[in-house]
Amino acid sequence: MVANNTKELSAARAPGVSWDELAEADSRPVPEYLKQGSCPDLGSEPLSTERYTSPEFFQRENDRMWPRVWQFAAREEELRNPGDVVVYENAGRSYALTRQQDGSVRAFFNVCLHRGRKLRTADGKVGEFRCPYHGWTWNIDGSLKTIPSRWDFKHLDDEPLNLPEAEVASWGGFIFVREEQGGPSLKEFLGELPLHFERWLPERRYTTAWVAKVVPANWKATAEAFMEAYHVIATHPQIMPFTGDANSKYSLHGDNVNLAITPFGTTSPHLHGAGLDEQAIMDAFLRYNGRVVPKDSTIEVPAGVTARRAMGDFNRRRFSEMAGMDLDHASDAEVQDAFTYNVFPNFSPWGGFSPAVVYRWRPWQDQDHTLMEVRILGLVPEGEPLPDVVRMQMLEPHQNWAEALGVLGSIIDQDMGNLPHVQAGMKLSKTKKLQLANSQEVRIRHFHQTLDKYLADPGHGEVE
Ligand code: FES
Ligand SMILES: [Fe+2]
Repeated sequence: MVANNTKELSAARAPGVSWDELAEADSRPVPEYLKQGSCPDLGSEPLSTERYTSPEFFQRENDRMWPRVWQFAAREEELRNPGDVVVYENAGRSYALTRQQDGSVRAFFNVCLHRGRKLRTADGKVGEFRCPYHGWTWNIDGSLKTIPSRWDFKHLDDEPLNLPEAEVASWGGFIFVREEQGGPSLKEFLGELPLHFERWLPERRYTTAWVAKVVPANWKATAEAFMEAYHVIATHPQIMPFTGDANSKYSLHGDNVNLAITPFGTTSPHLHGAGLDEQAIMDAFLRYNGRVVPKDSTIEVPAGVTARRAMGDFNRRRFSEMAGMDLDHASDAEVQDAFTYNVFPNFSPWGGFSPAVVYRWRPWQDQDHTLMEVRILGLVPEGEPLPDVVRMQMLEPHQNWAEALGVLGSIIDQDMGNLPHVQAGMKLSKTKKLQLANSQEVRIRHFHQTLDKYLADPGHGEVE
């Protein structure tokens, strides 16, 4: 566990109001477990660029890490009825997640047992799995149904011809798969995460937008562009008037989960002395934060009230209407701050009561490319029918994220502006080293330390 080094980094922090102090001053109680999270000192060693650029390192991840972790593969709403199938592919594997008659979900290895054709190439609804090549057919529970000219396969028994399966488990509307049997249960793997999300109703959410694009950078480099607020000063300077970037709180929760809380409605410590009044903070917030405020809205900040409090009041009302429930208990923090969780290795669900962002990063064929996906999960009012299923919109290389996601997309476009140059630069680096900030980039170090635990273990039957 990461907690064996208990030295804390809390003394090292930027000037200004910390997130914990903002939480203390909140108009509503902020959950204790959010205030208690801590940031241990994980050391200061540089990372090697080779971790992002080497085909051999990439292959070791594929062999040793990916088969052993729980991967977010689908949302429950994508598989509403028996026979609904989602094809989830990653790191050289393809799974056909299939809703069963009894409501459970099974994940079959998506390959025909005859001569290896992929069974499904797209999501859809099936009554059976019939291979388009020679017609071998399986029931939706993976049991063998028919083999044309069965008499010619006398050498094969039916039973071993059932489709092999990966493990499946779910939490909060997210369905996970794991290739290798054994190891921690999903519950053990997620640790405290479900407790943190309990208030935010992840199981009552549904996908309202889902956009993806291939990024010319390593999957870890891409994920790490979303693990710290340190880059705001140079990459997103327009949000500094209302973003406490350097006051973000970073905390680690076991090997697989970590959290960054970035406060909004407060000015960046980098701008201290700029003398922004509360209305100016609010105006910048409304202009450049497309996640928690509606486009083109105006909010007047009453005299003696902070922008943060005014935004809290506004969003509590608004999110209550959207969710069809009273959210008066929601703190100012939970209706505006960025609660960015990362679950090892490639899943990042945002917390809070706001429409939730979910990131997923998949290596896309090699160490130099990533499929980055952004979903927005909205709350469905109790008793209302679920809206139609939203499918992934794949952006072409020339399309930018703003076309699909508005102001939020334009922030992502700024992040994307760095990534091709990060991948190219790491290959060109003279030192071959990356240096990390001790606290603001602790989540990146945490991520690599967990990865190293998988890579160090050759696993069962693997020859060193
Ligand atoms: S490869 Fe599937 S039936 Fe022949
Ligand atoms: Fe960013």
